[in-house]
Amino acid sequence: MEDKREEAIAILNGLVELELAGAVRYTQYSLMIFGHARIPIMHWMRQQASEALTHATEAGEEVTSMGGRVSLDIGQLAGTHHASVDEILQELVVHERRGIELYRKLLKLTEGWSISLEEFARAKVRGEEMHLAEIEKMLRRRGDA
Ligand SMILES: [Fe+2]
Repeated sequence: MEDKREEAIAILNGLVELELAGAVRYTQYSLMIFGHARIPIMHWMRQQASEALTHATEAGEEVTSMGGRVSLDIGQLAGTHHASVDEILQELVVHERRGIELYRKLLKLTEGWSISLEEFARAKVRGEEMHLAEIEKMLRRRGDA
């Protein structure tokens, strides 16, 4: 039981770090969008940035609810100026997959042990998978059916 608690705290802290990095990445990338579709893409990225910040906060609240100490680190940040929006989106796909992996790990750990955390993880897997599907659709070419 104690092992599980510690593992859950570690995963949640990983999520705090990853979601915070996501908030930074989306904000930075929103400042690098030019051309015809700038306004909708920029707005979408800023929405994603604030959603990631909310997710980081939620994961952090779970850490402290379990008596853990919240991580003061941050996940990997964007290291490159990409040449196209597609490249940015591809990088974000990788980032989002990492998040889904962590939420799934949390779900697996908490199943049958903590209904509350299980529910938290399940809802996030659904939300993040929908979000990933959206990015993948954005990467399709216009006219693809
Ligand atoms: Fe998220």
